[in-house]
Amino acid sequence: MNEVTSTFEQAPVPDLGLAPVPAKAYYDAEWYELERQAIFMRTWFPCGHVSEVPEPGSFIRREFEFARASLIITRGKDGEVRAFHNACTHRGTQLTQDSCGKRNAFSCKYHMWTFGNDGALISAPEFEKFGLDKKDCGLKQVACEVHAGLIFVNFDKTPKQSLVEFLGPLAEGMSHLPCAHATQFSEYVYEIDANWKLTYDNFQENYHLRFIHPRSAGAGLGKDNPFGYPIAQELHDPHRTQTIWSNPDAMAQMTPAQMLGLGLGAKALMRGDVPENPFSRAYFAVFPSFFMLGSTGNNFSHTVYPIGPEKSRGVIRLYWIGNDETAGTRFAREYTTATTRDVHSEDIAVIEAGQRGLSSGALEHIYFQEQEVLCRHLYMMVEQAVNAYKAEQRQA
Ligand code: FES
Ligand SMILES: [Fe+2]
Repeated sequence: MNEVTSTFEQAPVPDLGLAPVPAKAYYDAEWYELERQAIFMRTWFPCGHVSEVPEPGSFIRREFEFARASLIITRGKDGEVRAFHNACTHRGTQLTQDSCGKRNAFSCKYHMWTFGNDGALISAPEFEKFGLDKKDCGLKQVACEVHAGLIFVNFDKTPKQSLVEFLGPLAEGMSHLPCAHATQFSEYVYEIDANWKLTYDNFQENYHLRFIHPRSAGAGLGKDNPFGYPIAQELHDPHRTQTIWSNPDAMAQMTPAQMLGLGLGAKALMRGDVPENPFSRAYFAVFPSFFMLGSTGNNFSHTVYPIGPEKSRGVIRLYWIGNDETAGTRFAREYTTATTRDVHSEDIAVIEAGQRGLSSGALEHIYFQEQEVLCRHLYMMVEQAVNAYKAEQRQA
């Protein structure tokens, strides 16, 4: 009989105290407006992957309700990825409703002003009658940078930090993840009647695992670590990381389909000779609402787009390298995606129920125990950004 020895040794949990947290921050419209101004309108926000804009002329359109903006993200002839407001500079008409495509110019349907992939106005009928200079009529650009294959934008006209400066100590680890080499991904998008922090926090604590996921995530709960708590949690203001524990005995509990999907599959998922990454148990939480699991067979990311104080959109992606040319690879990828969705589907109802309780205004405070320190840290970072913004406004 194989004896499974305990591998669970937890690093001390960072101490942020146990003070109650104001419930209003999770539903109040005025607080949400402060978050929008203080955070989302001036922070690097991930919204795509380089594999979506593989060649000059490739583009994607993304909607950012928090900025009331639609952006076209496109690769220019020079290979640069840029982001522009989807707004014709003549009188504002949106240039495209397509979610993606390939074009070497964007022509406005209304009066045919035409723009290049570098944003420049190329032509406009009877332009001489405007008394304008073409070089002043380019599309309005939004800051856009790429790291680890991920495309980030920043609505701040003059971002205070480059993307890599913003990512700080997380940047190096992220550059080793499969997303940095990925050529495709599986995706699902969902809308949820819940505040962005409530939606995001669900993935920052394992306190709920044993109650909400005893079936789907049961294999992750072992006798040495019955609650599936992480090995380590670290704070890197405004971001955070954790090291995920995995049950050494989990393989023994798996069905043949799971074995194939996760065991055999993990290698097939990462076709090509991608070295095993040293961050395969890492979880990177990038402020404000993006996280990514580093594991090679399940390079899973989640971005939560706030839509309103009580509504959000989540985008979940799993990154793959190379085509799924064999049945085994195809099965493994589909299986991993379906499993992820399965676990998540167990969370949705309880998150929305939490929102309804909070939105009733019945509670003044909510609570985070010491194992939920990552959720507390997110609130503290949000509060700090909102307070800094208020101070700035008072001085202006
Ligand atoms: S609004 Fe676009 S050309 Fe007139
Ligand atoms: Fe969950």
